[in-house]
Amino acid sequence: MAEFLRNTWYMIAWEQELGGDAMLSRRVMGNRILVFRRSSGTIAALRDRCPHRFARLSDGTRELDHIVCPYHGLTFDGSGACVRSPYPGVIPPNAHVDTYPAVAKHTIIWVWLGEPHLADEAAIPDLSFLEQPGHRREYTPIKADYRLVIDNLMDLSHVECVHRRTFGGTGAFYKGEFSATDLYGVIQSLWLRKNVPAAETGVEGLADGTYDQWADTRWHPAATITIEFGLAAAGAPRAEGSPSRTMEIHAITPETDKTSHYFYTWPPMEGEPSALFGGVLPIEHEDLPIIESVQEQMADAEFWSLRPVVLQVDAAAVRVRRRLAKMIAAEQRTGSAIPSSKP
Ligand code: FES
Ligand SMILES: [Fe+2]
Repeated sequence: MAEFLRNTWYMIAWEQELGGDAMLSRRVMGNRILVFRRSSGTIAALRDRCPHRFARLSDGTRELDHIVCPYHGLTFDGSGACVRSPYPGVIPPNAHVDTYPAVAKHTIIWVWLGEPHLADEAAIPDLSFLEQPGHRREYTPIKADYRLVIDNLMDLSHVECVHRRTFGGTGAFYKGEFSATDLYGVIQSLWLRKNVPAAETGVEGLADGTYDQWADTRWHPAATITIEFGLAAAGAPRAEGSPSRTMEIHAITPETDKTSHYFYTWPPMEGEPSALFGGVLPIEHEDLPIIESVQEQMADAEFWSLRPVVLQVDAAAVRVRRRLAKMIAAEQRTGSAIPSSKP
């Protein structure tokens, strides 16, 4: 059985994907959802299924703030109401499409598939760094349970094996220390390496000397992760300024129980990311193949039923899995979960 948290915000798209009269359709937890931006600027999210003969509304046409079904022409607005029918007579009252709370925040389109009255915009994590210019926004589908991607990100030591063709394989992650902490519900995987000679930091243009280097991965329920990479002169407080500090987001939205939408960013940089490592992209060419192969290996088995070996570096990933399981169980117990509809 698919295990999803429903009362939470999921990223469904980058805001930049909804330019002009774009209609975008993506499945979230098995539900195909159509999103578009109304002329007022607000975001509409509807079930992408006509209530008449279940055609996909996103295959239809958009007329300003209305969507015309491609099959028989019933027309709906962003609130799901049928506003026009090509046929004479009264529009049946059940000619209504389900809608979902949706909002644009921090350059991201978020949707809420849980109880609508619980949808609170304030619960969206603070990702305001994305509003600074220069971040490169990426998207890739991945054939894996969203939690396998979270596992990968909460344990950056995989860089040493998986990213050998790009930025990994130097042994740096093995030389630092990992710790797992919990900050008001945000689970953190903190990597710290002290007294690193400038030449070993992997950061170009540093003054000679030694540095403390960190990578802080933070998980926000249910599937939004930020990673901060930084360094400061050895022993100096981080707040005193870091010659190199970058932030990334990784948002993994469950599409089905074995496929996900993976959104991520590159920090501002000159040139193309593909030029950095001779055309090898770390996520698409290194993380994806291994995570998808893990999914294939697991087939339909439940993660813990396979009795996975747990290493010390897995501490944060295990905490996230346990926290998520607890939240999902609580949601299902209180009956606030809405059963996932079949795609
Ligand atoms: S299926 Fe949409 S109008 Fe008939
Ligand atoms: Fe990776």
